[in-house]
Amino acid sequence: MIRNASHEDLDAILEIENGCFTRPWSRKSFEAELFKIRSDFLVCEECGEVAGYIVFWYILDEAELADVAVAEKFRRRGIASRLITHCVEKHEEIDIIHLEVETNNISAVSLYEGMGFKPKGQIKDYYGEGRHALRMSCRRTDYRGD
Ligand SMILES: CC(C)(COP(=O)(O)OP(=O)(O)OC[C@H]1O[C@@H](n2cnc3c(N)ncnc32)[C@H](O)[C@@H]1OP(=O)(O)O)[C@@H](O)C(=O)NCCC(=O)NCCS
Repeated sequence: MIRNASHEDLDAILEIENGCFTRPWSRKSFEAELFKIRSDFLVCEECGEVAGYIVFWYILDEAELADVAVAEKFRRRGIASRLITHCVEKHEEIDIIHLEVETNNISAVSLYEGMGFKPKGQIKDYYGEGRHALRMSCRRTDYRGD
């Protein structure tokens, strides 16, 4: 089930986030997303557990996939794809979605390529020295959801 994130979800979200990233978002950053306009902060719940979450920012016809992660035990079940597609389908006005992903994050790059995202260039040292970001974008017409 995909639903809005709430305060009660933050412990579970932070546990996933801290296990995924060397520079994880803070509790304060997630708390701010609960109240932000032009931001979808959603969780996917499986058997009463937070399996994954997404932060998706949008303005006019553009969106930025700011954060998405899935707990290890729930991976490869289509949860990230479902979360992204949920946001894309909800916002019919969006024509293009942007994101940054670490160049060596094979699982995420594969996920995005499979959905129709294309590389648009690199940002050197974006995640720290020697850790570059790949900037990717996808037009709605190229989007391949689940
Ligand atoms: C990247 C991530 C969000 C994918 O979540 P997920 O729910 O497992 O992804 P899905 O099940 O929707 O995968 C859809 C497709 O993406 C690709 N994919 C996902 N994980 C992959 C992996 N480890 N290796 C290769 N391809 C992968 C596959 O094509 C997959 O389809 P398939 O399972 O039918 O082969 C998850 O691995 C994760 O949380 N990683 C750590 C956090 C992270 O890197 N977030 C992205 C930041 S930019």
